[in-house]
Amino acid sequence: MLILGIESSCDETAAAVVEDGRRILSSVVATQVDIHHRFGGVVPELASRMHIEAIVPVVRKAFIEAGVQPERLDAVAATQGPGLVGALLVGFSFAKAFAYARNLPLVAVDHLEGHLYSALLVDTPPSFPYVALLASGGHTAIYYIKARGDYQLLGQTRDDAAGEAYDKVAKMLGLGYPGGAVIDDLARQGDARKIVFTRPFLDKTRFDFSFSGIKSAVLRSISNNSGQWVERHRADIAAGFQAAVIDVLAYKLLYAAETKQCSHVAVVGGVAANQELRNRLTREAARRKLSLHIPPTNLCGDNAAMIAGAAHHHLAAGRIASLKDDVYSRNRRTTEN
Ligand code: KG4
Ligand code: ZN
Repeated sequence: MLILGIESSCDETAAAVVEDGRRILSSVVATQVDIHHRFGGVVPELASRMHIEAIVPVVRKAFIEAGVQPERLDAVAATQGPGLVGALLVGFSFAKAFAYARNLPLVAVDHLEGHLYSALLVDTPPSFPYVALLASGGHTAIYYIKARGDYQLLGQTRDDAAGEAYDKVAKMLGLGYPGGAVIDDLARQGDARKIVFTRPFLDKTRFDFSFSGIKSAVLRSISNNSGQWVERHRADIAAGFQAAVIDVLAYKLLYAAETKQCSHVAVVGGVAANQELRNRLTREAARRKLSLHIPPTNLCGDNAAMIAGAAHHHLAAGRIASLKDDVYSRNRRTTEN
């Protein structure tokens, strides 16, 4: 079963061909970060225009790299939401037109479900049931996953997402957009013990997050000190901020595993590319005899392989979208306990 996946929810135009929900034949990602970088964040109108320019060449490249002719496809899948409506519309409308023109089934995929699926696109996926931390630029949540497609939301952020906090702190430190990878690198040169930020655990027995306070704490430490001091301590601030965020993410994921008695845990989303988070969880998982599953970094950030992968199971279950279906900007399809 061959599926073409398309993702355009934010600032990456992506297309991928995936076989049987497992084997990635191609995964092409055209990022717009260079364009948004100078504005310090994603400009929605610009994002839509860039998706329109990129979608055809990106899809063409996905076919070439996969060595597959469009005639061999069994379905086309696209991200339906959540995300920027104008950006989503480009990929979703393209997929509709493609499906209509080639008489193929259209599969609509939730972006968060796609991220969660990225942990299953590897040789040794986690065994059910497991708990997963999804940390990206738009979302931070913990799920209990009983079976494929059966996701129970245990908790999520009440304000900023973890990636969003990275992006905002990077902006404050004059490091541009996006901030995750830059802070990750800079933090390695700093000392996390020099500038310590309060860990925003909220209730330690629940799985909700809040990252807006730590962002304000970083802002305070910048504005309460001289420009020279900030310059000298830039790496220490990055390290201190990162240590606080990672402490909370790691704690809540491990606590969820304990509470739900899962021996397998997964981490997905753009923030899962963070080296310090990966190292920390690798150590903690080994100590607790947990099996840790973090996809390779090219599957952490937005990509279309995760969309084509998740689509496989919708297709097998006969969940086909209608050409009348529309995109959505906010979360859906999750249940909170
Ligand atoms: O999953 P993703 O590509 O897009 C969304 O669905 O939001 O995640 C992007 C987010 C950005 O906020 C970016 O700063 C963050 O992931 N990110 C990182 C790292 N690489 C990307 N955060 C921390 N450390 C990283 N190495
Ligand atoms: Zn994403």
